[in-house]
Amino acid sequence: MIKKCLFPAAGYGTRFLPATKSMPKEMMPVVNKPLIEYGVDEAIHAGMTDMCIVTGRGKHSIMDHFDTNYELEHQINGTSKEALLEDIRGVMDSASFTYIRQREMKGLGHAILTGKALVGDNPFAVVLADDLCVNEHKGVLAQMAELYNQFRCTIVAVQEVPETETHKYGVISGEMIKDNIFRVDDMVEKPEPGTAPSNMAIIGRYIMTPDIFDLIEQTEPGKGGEIQITDALLKQAKTGCVLAYKFEGKRFDCGSAEGYIEATNYCYENLYQKAKKKESKPAVVKVKTAEVEMA
Ligand code: G1P
Repeated sequence: MIKKCLFPAAGYGTRFLPATKSMPKEMMPVVNKPLIEYGVDEAIHAGMTDMCIVTGRGKHSIMDHFDTNYELEHQINGTSKEALLEDIRGVMDSASFTYIRQREMKGLGHAILTGKALVGDNPFAVVLADDLCVNEHKGVLAQMAELYNQFRCTIVAVQEVPETETHKYGVISGEMIKDNIFRVDDMVEKPEPGTAPSNMAIIGRYIMTPDIFDLIEQTEPGKGGEIQITDALLKQAKTGCVLAYKFEGKRFDCGSAEGYIEATNYCYENLYQKAKKKESKPAVVKVKTAEVEMA
């Protein structure tokens, strides 16, 4: 069973400036929940309990979000507003949160290597929180964790994208070994237009075996002068086995304005509104007695 889930969350979120000037992009709300909480929910749903978060400067609000806010708790204790904290309390009770700071931004590979101190010698999942994934019955990480239990090797989630989009992603090619499962034989980070090995793009969900850390250490800076996880994964594919999994569900690129709005509309209609309808039974509201100062 995979227990650890790594969240690289040190990036600047430049695509969403100025919103992300002082607020981490992982804390951008989709309806009433920050992006990273959707990722954490997905990991918990997949049976993971240790959330390992790679942060950086200016990311304190992520830590605060997964911690108790005594003043707020005190203020709303016993009021109907308390129900709004139910989900996040459940999340905090279901998982532990540990943090490490990435001092320099040297790419996704480097961010994942920074998480080694938290992950140790264990297989682990990786969630890029700006990719929001939803699937009604079984989340994407849960699907991947099941596959891991079967194959015991690194798995990347992939999605078919139009050819005009391949330059935005890591792109794989491979032989199909089962429905929706490919054994990776090539992988290119953000290929130049017209040079992609296929139209199967890696999205922000991975399961990795811990030997990836040595491979990252041996990886030279690649695309954009950064240490790319795609390059380390290609080495793993050549020397061992990496699978690509065409997942069931939807994925929204919340790093782009269009994807963010689509995710917001989808979550509002399919998650938020439905949850509200379920709350049809009248809530028991404890009336807070006011302290009346007697003259
Ligand atoms: C990263 C990875 C890329 C992957 C993408 C998925 O790129 O480097 O291989 O396809 O995430 O969202 P980024 O979007 O951080 O530039």
